[in-house]
Amino acid sequence: MNSMANILAQIIENSHTAIKINNNDYIKDGILYCGNCNTKKQSLINVQGMEFKPMCLCKCGIEKRNSLEIEQKNRDIVTAKLERLSLLNQHNLLKGRLKDIYLDSFIKNKNNEKALNIAKDFINKFSNKSKGLLFSGDVGTGKSYISAIIANELVKRGKTAIMLNLNSLISDTDNQNALLKQLALADLIIFDDLGTERQTSYGFERAYDFINARYITEKPTIYTTNKSVDEMIKCENIDQKRMYDRILGSTNIIRLKGDSLRVEQAKKAYIL
Ligand SMILES: Nc1ncnc2c1ncn2[C@@H]1O[C@H](COP(=O)(O)OP(=O)(O)OP(=O)(O)O)[C@@H](O)[C@H]1O
Ligand SMILES: [Mg+2]
Ligand SMILES: [Zn+2]
Repeated sequence: MNSMANILAQIIENSHTAIKINNNDYIKDGILYCGNCNTKKQSLINVQGMEFKPMCLCKCGIEKRNSLEIEQKNRDIVTAKLERLSLLNQHNLLKGRLKDIYLDSFIKNKNNEKALNIAKDFINKFSNKSKGLLFSGDVGTGKSYISAIIANELVKRGKTAIMLNLNSLISDTDNQNALLKQLALADLIIFDDLGTERQTSYGFERAYDFINARYITEKPTIYTTNKSVDEMIKCENIDQKRMYDRILGSTNIIRLKGDSLRVEQAKKAYIL
């Protein structure tokens, strides 16, 4: 083989490692085709009488690569925007197990199907004028999980979405004013585990201040809580009452029913 052919052979070898062959791909007329979009994953070239079959991207492969590139650009945009929200971002819960979950990680069941549809709709129609969501339900029913998915999907679309716990904000005593200001700047805020604040007049007051700081921006906010709407309405402390009044007035309420999915997971792990 001459040097040109050597170079070509190298390029072709590289193309074979760069493009993955899937189980449903198939060969037609000696060329590999994608089992999903039925377009070529291999081309045929003839150089000085020699045939080469380098791998190439099929139609759906090109689409996937393009959308991954857009998603990465959007994530970079969000990372840059989060610099202005750095104090708030220090409290962001979208780390660890809540970081890499997206709609395709969601496991559907009869108790959460409706919530999933509402979440999809919220993501697709998201704007700074969207109405917020309130996920209410027992322990382990998937409230934080679905909220984190919504946030991660929106980050993929270039939106600043931050998930917070009020206790964590309240205990950051050095930065209270800055945190209140930064709350107004994010596209989406999620307050996770509402109702677990310290049951003192100080705790109620601070919780109200944070919720109200977001509420007055009229931007969308998601809340998760173990409390039922009845419990929220019946609370007696005036700050709590004002807080829940704002929350109920600015959200669509979704009740998540069923048993704890944590217990379900533990049972499965035990059987295996
Ligand atoms: N739709 C889902 N698909 C896959 N896993 C899920 C789903 N919903 C919940 N889980 C799993 O169940 C666990 C419990 O869910 P999650 O933490 O969202 O519960 P929660 O309702 O927020 O509970 P708590 O009231 O204790 O805060 C999660 O860690 C996750 O692993
Ligand atoms: Mg939770
Ligand atoms: Zn394809």
